[in-house]
Amino acid sequence: MIIKISPKIKSSEITVEKDYVRRRSFIKYSALTLASAGLKPLLAQSDKNERNGQPALKYQKNKRYSTTEKQNSWADITGYNNFYEFGTDKSDPKRNARNFKARPWKVRMDGLCQKPGDYDVDDLIRESELEERIYRLRCVEAWSMVIPWLGIPLHKLIKKAVPDSKARFVEFTTLHDPGRMPGQRSGILDWPYREGLRMDEAMHPLTIMAVGLYGKVLPNQNGAPIRLIVPWKYGFKSIKSVVRIRFVEKMPLNTWQQLAPQEYGFYANVNPNVDHPRWSQKRERRIGSFFKIETEMFNGYADEVGSMYASLDLRKWY
Ligand code: MTE
Repeated sequence: MIIKISPKIKSSEITVEKDYVRRRSFIKYSALTLASAGLKPLLAQSDKNERNGQPALKYQKNKRYSTTEKQNSWADITGYNNFYEFGTDKSDPKRNARNFKARPWKVRMDGLCQKPGDYDVDDLIRESELEERIYRLRCVEAWSMVIPWLGIPLHKLIKKAVPDSKARFVEFTTLHDPGRMPGQRSGILDWPYREGLRMDEAMHPLTIMAVGLYGKVLPNQNGAPIRLIVPWKYGFKSIKSVVRIRFVEKMPLNTWQQLAPQEYGFYANVNPNVDHPRWSQKRERRIGSFFKIETEMFNGYADEVGSMYASLDLRKWY
């Protein structure tokens, strides 16, 4: 996501978006050529196999909180990722996270609460009624996708821990294990990756912990086995492979804010009126389509979440 700040990333290691688009059009074109020559489009076939090979999960559709916009393909969602623990190029996580063991996995809930504890991810999945939520994901780099997540509303998990009234914020932490996450052997970020939400944001019904997508168990590159999804905020808030959820009194410092506070704030609400120093936020490109579209306030979720920020200066609190 960050491109110019770290001197440790060689410019040759970064996939510029136009190269990605060109590569994708080439792949599509090759598949077409093969098909018209009467040969099987191998790529489409292997993509389908990959999706079918992933274990399925039981879930209910949640129409109220789902967009009806066209969903991105499995290939887009699992092949174009930001996950620096597995490399800085968008195509790295798929390749480098292939052998990552995401089970067994426990999530610790602790801090200012009455019932701290360790929760096994598969127990959480078994005990929860998983919901499918088709959300827009808008990245600060001005691209976006539409993704059918399977998840557990975060407020249901938080209630298990019974937070104290002093708990005003929630801090999330990714696994720190350089043996399993090769990107953590470099100093690109201050590991482990951390994020935070205000308590009312964490309790909001739109906020979920995702454990799957397209009806299947979450692929490693998308943050297996469990990751946060906050659809009205820029994608970097949606922290992957979470091992700890801590209730705290003070606003936590998130990883990107710590690295470049002039570029990344705590709130990171999608806002077409406040530009990032390096990217205009007025428009976005949906991965897989050529034309740009207007970015909506709070990523289109203003009716649901706008009131939480009524008294906040969104230029100051970006
Ligand atoms: N979580 C961790 N632990 N490490 C990361 O590098 N990248 C973030 C976010 N969560 C990141 C992370 C960014 S910048 C984005 S845009 C989204 O994950 C991308 O999610 P996706 O790859 O599932 O689309």
